[in-house]
Amino acid sequence: MSKPHTLRAHRGQKLQGHVCVPGDKSISHRSLMFGALAIGRTRITGLLEGEDVINTARIVTQLGARATKIDDTWEVLGRGVGGLTQPDGDLDFGNSGTGARLMLGVVAGNSVSARFVGDESLSRRPMGRVLTPLQAMGLRVDKNRTTLPMMVHGTPDVLPFEYELPVPSAQVKSAVLIAGLHARGRTTVIEAEATRDHTERMLRYLGAKISVEERGDARAIHVEGDAELQGRDITVPGDPSSAAFLVAAAAITPDSDVTIENVLINPTRTGFYTTLCEMGANIEFLNEREAGGETIADIRVRSSELKGANVPAVRAPSMIDEYPVLAVVAAFADGDTVMNGLAELKVKESDRLAATSDGLQANGIAATVSGDTLTVHGMKNPPGGGRVATHLDHRIAMAFAVLGLAADRPVEVDDGAIIATSFPEFEPLMAKLGATIERIEST
Ligand code: S3P
Repeated sequence: MSKPHTLRAHRGQKLQGHVCVPGDKSISHRSLMFGALAIGRTRITGLLEGEDVINTARIVTQLGARATKIDDTWEVLGRGVGGLTQPDGDLDFGNSGTGARLMLGVVAGNSVSARFVGDESLSRRPMGRVLTPLQAMGLRVDKNRTTLPMMVHGTPDVLPFEYELPVPSAQVKSAVLIAGLHARGRTTVIEAEATRDHTERMLRYLGAKISVEERGDARAIHVEGDAELQGRDITVPGDPSSAAFLVAAAAITPDSDVTIENVLINPTRTGFYTTLCEMGANIEFLNEREAGGETIADIRVRSSELKGANVPAVRAPSMIDEYPVLAVVAAFADGDTVMNGLAELKVKESDRLAATSDGLQANGIAATVSGDTLTVHGMKNPPGGGRVATHLDHRIAMAFAVLGLAADRPVEVDDGAIIATSFPEFEPLMAKLGATIERIEST
């Protein structure tokens, strides 16, 4: 990762134009990992080339499934389910919880011993949530560690398993389903709240036997073991979680009119957009179409008067990565915005509940945390003028850069370099729309 640099975002002119955001991070990780588990060649277009995903590409290569870029396309030469080989050296996931947790599911089913390592932020994040089911299926973990660094040992004899998710996490669901591909028999994951379903969709697309059973409000997802996946072409749509920063910036900057093309609008990912519409934002979904098993659209957003909203806890899984930027938008609304059910925010790249409320307060915006609820007291014209600690969290950095574009005084974020984990083009894309975000290199 490059050296931290400060970003200083200034209030300026309206934002305008048509842009594309980079590929979806969740789908990008999965396309590399599932390509590695498929037989033959998987060609991926639109892969996100952020640091998190590039780490995953290097790691599948270390495990014997070569991932390379040829012209504009990434190609993975898969080894088949259970066919990965012993890596040389540590598997370094950098900042990525998705990379590490899903790969634990991959390694569980292969005769591989691997040392998982990551940066300071990732080394603090809980891995027990995936290790509990994966150890029941046969994964061994040295010294019973529950945080990185950790040495793990997979097995060719994975046991099928039925697991009810104790937390609404697509990463945990995915890790268990991936390990289940290698088991002899059927593995089932039960989720009380729907989480993003890219694993189910892509595994099915590559030939796995996946079925979904509705059980009241819950869903049971079954995967048949001894699976065979076939390499295929995958097109990665634009990331709605990255688009959210541009949408938020346009919504709060007067006279803006911005269109973001080719954005994934899978309903397990669009809670932020639903909420903004409830707040009175002027958002249109244009040219809706199907591409590679997912629905995509062009999103047009124009600035408008916003009002506070009450965001229900059931919506949290579909917008879990968007709360920091929603909190920023809420500062420009008339009235309070109450965000419920945010327990999972505390275990992201940083404690995002604390980082968000601290960042708001540093900029003169009243925010209160009570249990798992964040309330932002909207003030229409927030003062800004503060410096925000990003805590190695790309979404905190981008959310508060957006605040500076419409607050009275400039806003500084202390580490713009971390943004490259998920959205390396953030600064040039914002500049293209007309935003003024100054980069101050540390000496
Ligand atoms: C992701 C799932 C979410 C999300 C993360 C990506 C995924 O985490 O926060 O950025 O790709 O499965 P949880 O599943 O832990 O909530």
